[in-house]
Amino acid sequence: MRKVDSKSSRTLRRGPGGRVVAVVGLDSEEAMVDGGKTRRGGLAGVRNSGGGGHVPILARILAHNLFPYHHHLRTHDYTMSGQHQLPDLPYAYDALEPFISRQIMELHHKKHHQTYVTALNAAEQAYAKTSSPKERIALQAALKFNGGGHINHSLFWKNLAPSASEGKGNGGVLKDGPLKTAILETFGTFDQFKKEFNTVTAGIQGSGWGWLGVNPASKRLELATTANQDPLLSLVPVIGVDVWEHAFYLQYLNVKVDYLNAIWNVVNFDEAEKRYLEAIGGSKL
Ligand SMILES: [Fe+2]
Repeated sequence: MRKVDSKSSRTLRRGPGGRVVAVVGLDSEEAMVDGGKTRRGGLAGVRNSGGGGHVPILARILAHNLFPYHHHLRTHDYTMSGQHQLPDLPYAYDALEPFISRQIMELHHKKHHQTYVTALNAAEQAYAKTSSPKERIALQAALKFNGGGHINHSLFWKNLAPSASEGKGNGGVLKDGPLKTAILETFGTFDQFKKEFNTVTAGIQGSGWGWLGVNPASKRLELATTANQDPLLSLVPVIGVDVWEHAFYLQYLNVKVDYLNAIWNVVNFDEAEKRYLEAIGGSKL
């Protein structure tokens, strides 16, 4: 019995050793996430670790492999130092009212998006600090989830704008031009495009994103959805709509379709057209 205990004890000692990949990875990530709330402390700790020097290259490689079609995002949005920053909104928190409330925008940006940024930084730093394949594999899910969350929300804020119908901005207006021509070619009418987008997007089970994107091979517009925070990899993103409950529940409760109908009043089609033109590489002009 003692022998078993002894063996068990050794096993136990080896056990944690064998599980170091998970434990160390999680502890280290949680510690960094917690540290991230006090931000400077967390980052200073990472700098002192001496592992930060590898981050830029790793981050670029990961970003290139994970997000090959996101050329239009500024490089420093998701690479460079590995210390991503929450981007400022290009409008005030209440600017999208009455279609998206100030409360939603403030929580969504300051809390939700910030959490993805903080956790992405932590995951990248943890990745850079280890050479263990198992630890690196264990970090892939965190990199994908939080990296996708950062990229998706960065796209989302910019493809929204204060509504023209409220006299506040250019939101909701699809002007004559290449994007409008492509939308009409693909969907028949502007209303039909919005209807099909909403139908496809409303069909997401659970959390996810609805997308209009450009097929990089055919250069045609297509609709797509991604689950959770998965970024859109098969198409070049043109318009992304967040259909996580945190994006609408405080205002629209469980009526997702009302949110999807309302959001078109604040879609920035000028930004969408810029992305579209970049995606087709001018070949249609
Ligand atoms: Fe969100």
